[in-house]
Amino acid sequence: MNDATLLAQPSPPRYLMCRPQYFAVTYRINPWMDPKTWADSGAELHVTAVRQWAGLYSALLGNGAGIELIEPEPGLPDLVFTANAAVVLDRKVLLTRFRHAERQGEQPLLLAGFKALQARGLIDEIVEMPEGAVLEGAGDCIWDRKRGLFWLGNGFRSEPAARPVIEKQFGVPCVPLELADPNFYHLDTCFCALPSGDVIYYPAAFTSGALDCIHNHIAPVQRIALDRADASHFAANAVCLGGNIVMSSCSTMLRRRLEERGLKVVKAPLHAFLRSGGSACCLTLRLDHLSDAALMPALTSNAARTTAEASG
Ligand code: ARG
Repeated sequence: MNDATLLAQPSPPRYLMCRPQYFAVTYRINPWMDPKTWADSGAELHVTAVRQWAGLYSALLGNGAGIELIEPEPGLPDLVFTANAAVVLDRKVLLTRFRHAERQGEQPLLLAGFKALQARGLIDEIVEMPEGAVLEGAGDCIWDRKRGLFWLGNGFRSEPAARPVIEKQFGVPCVPLELADPNFYHLDTCFCALPSGDVIYYPAAFTSGALDCIHNHIAPVQRIALDRADASHFAANAVCLGGNIVMSSCSTMLRRRLEERGLKVVKAPLHAFLRSGGSACCLTLRLDHLSDAALMPALTSNAARTTAEASG
């Protein structure tokens, strides 16, 4: 590995998370959410959620992640899903604008949380979404490092109107993908772009137009299509760091396909969060994704240094 490659792989990967202290299912904004069953379970599901979140937290830490936390808040049970907080690239934060009133109360807290990260020098800039364009953060807007573009889910939460905002703010292309199945209402519930360029996805979650688009961009050898069972356990809602992929559940067949690609599957069961329509990926927000344009000065100056060292 040369110096340039080292610089191109900032480490450790840094995530934003939120403790599940007030996590619960108290309203229904997706088909997975059933407030009555949650309430009927007494404290049991909450205890499980706390334990499972801690399992994810240690799995990420144990695999080399750095983790920042925002403070949980009573009455905002979904704040725990930090993937929905913002889209972050090149140290710039594009704050979320939620579709549902149930989650809009998170917005001021997220702004305050990002300001605190800015004050600590972890990010440079915070931008708000214009009114009228819904964008539910990285849950619907997935950075594809290999292709240098964002994939934008729409149809249930985020809107196509967010696309020009994303392209303008980050200066990279954004490819819209229309979702077709309400059970897979955020793009990260059915699509995961791995650093290698491979993509895990659930074909039935997309409209035929979106599926054509995926197939036009992604070569057959790079497609890892999920069956309904893996998809329904949110296997696509995974966190890939280094050579590891952290997910709640994985069939033997899927594990084999991931291992063939050199990935080690780390299981962190998160069933309590599936009751809210979430899993590993949406409990995290990657804070340190960089585009080629941002990496370029580092690569260029590093190459210059290497040349100078070689000749000097
Ligand atoms: N209950 C939350 C909602 O419906 C779950 C969000 C999961 N987040 C995600 N990025 N998939 O908004």
